[in-house]
Order: sequence, then C-alpha cells, then structure tokens
Amino acid sequence: MESLEKKIVESDSLESLEKIRVELFGKKGFLAAEFVKLKDIPGPQKKEFAEGLNQTKESLQSAFDLRYDELKQGEIETKLKSEALDVTLYGGSAKKGSLHPVMETMDRIIDYFVALNFAVESGPMVEDDFHNFEALNLPKHHPARDMQDTFYFNDGALLRTHTSPVQIRTMLSSQPPIRMIAPGAVFRRDYDLTHTPMFHQVEGLVVEAKGKVSFANLKSMLTDFLHTMFGDVDVRFRPSFFPFTEPSAEVDISCIFCKGDGCRVCSQTGWLEVLGCGMVDSNVFKAVGYENVSGYAFGLGVERFAMLMHQIPDLRSLFEGDIRLLEQFR
Ligand code: PHE
Repeated sequence: MESLEKKIVESDSLESLEKIRVELFGKKGFLAAEFVKLKDIPGPQKKEFAEGLNQTKESLQSAFDLRYDELKQGEIETKLKSEALDVTLYGGSAKKGSLHPVMETMDRIIDYFVALNFAVESGPMVEDDFHNFEALNLPKHHPARDMQDTFYFNDGALLRTHTSPVQIRTMLSSQPPIRMIAPGAVFRRDYDLTHTPMFHQVEGLVVEAKGKVSFANLKSMLTDFLHTMFGDVDVRFRPSFFPFTEPSAEVDISCIFCKGDGCRVCSQTGWLEVLGCGMVDSNVFKAVGYENVSGYAFGLGVERFAMLMHQIPDLRSLFEGDIRLLEQFR
C-alpha cells in the first residue's frame, strides 16, 4: 500500500500519473482485483477486509487527487512562462496616419471663415429641383442649366451639382442676418485631368438688412482670404455670370507656379481661376420670401485649391485610394 502511494507521490508528469491511475483504479487495476478477492474471503473476516480495502481506496484516491493538482498547477505555470510576452521589447514604429489633402484644405478654408464668425451649415447631397435650381433663379428651361451636367434619379431627385442649395435651405429655415458657409461634396458628370464626378465645394452666404453689405465687402474679404491661402499673390475680379448672383464675378489669382509669366498650368495666361461670387440676385430673395435685404455669396472648389497648394497634377489621383498619395502629405 505504502509503495503504491509512493508511486503516486513520485510520479513526475500528468502522463505517468495517468498510467498509475489506470493501474490502480482501472477496470483491470489493483483495486478491482482486490475487490474480486472479497468473495473468497470467509464470512467473519469479510467485513474487516472490505473496510481495509475501502480505506486503502480512499487514501490512494486522495494521494492521487493531491498529486494531480500539483502536476496540473505546474503545467499551467510552465505554459504561462513559455507564452509570456516581453512588453518592453522594441516592436518597430507604428505608421502615423494623415488627413487627406482635400480634407486638410477644407479644414483650412473652414477655419478662415469660422474665425470671421461664419456658421457652418450643411444640407442633403440628394436634392430636389427646387433647392438645386429653381430657387436659385434657374427656371426649368433656363439655358444656364446646361452649365451643370446633373445626375438624376428616376423620381426626379438629383445629386446636388453645387453647395448653393444650402443657401436656400438656410434662408428658408432662419431669418437675416445670415452669415454662413456650407462645405460638402457635390456631383457632376465630368471626368478628366481636372474633373471628377464627385468633388467638394465651400459655399458662402451673407445676408443683411438692405444696404448694409456691398460688393466692396465681398471683394475685400475674398482678397484677404486668398492671400491667407496662397500667400503673396495678385487677385483680380473678372465680370462673369451666375443666375443666382447679380452682378457676378470670377476671381483669379496670379499663377503661383510661374508668378504670372505664363506656363502650362495657367494656360499661358498668368492667372488661375479659383472662385465664383457675386451679390445675391433679387430673384433668389424672392424665392425664399426675403424683403429689404442685401447679400453676397461665393463658391469655390476645394480640390482645385488642394491641387494648387500641393501641386497635384491629376485630380483623379486624389480619389484612387492609393495609400502612397497620402504618405506624401503626412
Ligand atoms: N454655385 C456656383 C458653382 O457651382 C459657385 C457660386 C456660388 C458662384 C455662389 C457664385 C455664388 O459654380
């Protein structure tokens, strides 16, 4: 008996202990054989023998359980040790992310106007005819609708072709004075070096009591804005046409690549067009029910700004999702 217990205590692995378990407690093991002997024991000694056997069984069992726990614990510790991580080990540096150049440019533009107390508004990208065209003085058969190639849905809804519908929504849901910008994605059926079907604009609108804002205010603010964005450039306002502004202007800066001498980027003109603007047309105010107000509006393409500021030759590369592009702007 003692030698059996000794065997248990001295077993050095769970495997050898398992062997001992079969030897002792198994169907053909030591204890089973002892119990078989019981039937040959004559009556008077039977009880004593049986009690002795049960005691043996119990003490073997508890020796076994004890050793099993010890070996199991040892195994767990060994495993933990072998799987331990040295968190102080050098793991190589993690790559830093970066803002997409379009978003970074957008943020800079927004920051400029927020500092001038403009509120940042937004509107839906799926628009209706009223907000995108009609209320902006572009009635159904107005030829100026040809300026914008529009994505239409079957039910007449459309993808907004500019951020100007946010002007309409803001004027309809609030009262003057208004001082807002609307940054966001817009959509046109266009695809070449300088056009993608989705791009971003920042729209601006200021509405005050009649006579309180003038083209001079618009001009001085946009001039300062362009100097902030592009540094020491010449700025010129060129008469132009938009249905929703009158008078209207397009704004050019002297070419930042050739400093006005003429190069490929500016098509030898020395100037780069960067903005559209003007005094809000009275028909627009009529459409939203405003009276006795004056206002100005402007709109710009964020990708165009980003291209010029970062000298990106092909606009389409901005939206191909190539991580190497982002890595250049980290
Ligand atoms: N909505 C015009 C465009 O997309 C830009 C613009 C906005 C012009 C506001 C004038 C005033 O081209």
